[in-house]
Amino acid sequence: MLFDVHAHYDDERFDEDRDIILSSMLDNNVGHIINIGYNLKSSRDSIALSEKYPFMYAAVGFHPSDAHLMTKEDFDEIKKLAQHPKVVAIGEIGLDYYYGKETEEVQRRVFREQIELAKEVNLPFQVHNRDSTRDCVDILRESNMGERRGMMHCFSESRETAKKILDLGMKISIGGVLTFKNNVKTVEVVKYVPIEDLMIETDCPYLAPVPYRGKRNSSLYIHAVAEKIAELKGMDVDEVIAITEKNAKNFFDIKD
Ligand code: NI
Repeated sequence: MLFDVHAHYDDERFDEDRDIILSSMLDNNVGHIINIGYNLKSSRDSIALSEKYPFMYAAVGFHPSDAHLMTKEDFDEIKKLAQHPKVVAIGEIGLDYYYGKETEEVQRRVFREQIELAKEVNLPFQVHNRDSTRDCVDILRESNMGERRGMMHCFSESRETAKKILDLGMKISIGGVLTFKNNVKTVEVVKYVPIEDLMIETDCPYLAPVPYRGKRNSSLYIHAVAEKIAELKGMDVDEVIAITEKNAKNFFDIKD
C-alpha cells in the first residue's frame, strides 16, 4: 500500500473534514502516513493523530521557519515527546533561507541541535531545505549523524546534490513537485536515484500533484507521484508502491 512519509493533517485546512478524510485512507490503498511537527504544538498534535489512527505515525521537531522560537524548555519537551512509541522521526528540521533570511544563524544552530537529538534518541530525521543547499549539505556532512541518519523531504534540488545526499547514506523523498510541468530537475533526480533509496510523500495540504494541482493536497492524491515514478523508471506502479513502502518501513523501523 501507499506510504506517505510527510503530511500535515493538523493543519487548519483539514479542520472541516479531517476525520472523514483520514477514515477513507485504508479503502484508498494508503496504508501508512507520518504526520510531521514544525513546532511544539504541531508535534503534540501529530502524536494525538497517531494515537487516534493506527496507520498514522508522528515526527516531532522545530521547522527552520520556527527555529528562532524554540526555547530550551521546548527542546527538552521535544526530547520527551520523542520517546512516545508512535514517534518514528525527528522533524521537520533543516534550513529555509527563502523565508528566513534574518534567522539564518539561529536556523543552523537549531538544525545541528536537532540532529544531535535524533542521534541521542536513536531516531532518523526529516530534513527541509529551501535556498540553503550548500549550508545544509555542509552541516549534514560535518555532523556525526549516527546510524539512523536522515532523509531529504520534498527533494527538489539537482542530481549533483542528490548524489551528495546518497553519499552521506541518506534517503530522498519525492512529492507532487515531480509531476509539475517543465520540472526537468526532479525528473532527472528520479531517473538517477535507485528505487531502493526513494520514498514518496504529499507534504499535504501543500503541493498537490498534477492533475490535482492547486487543490488542497491529501494522501488520496499520492498515487499520482507513484505513477510518475513508475513511468520515469519504466516500472510497474504496483512495484513502485511496494518498494517505496518497504523502504519507508525499514527506514522508520515500522513493523506492521
Ligand atoms: Ni512539511
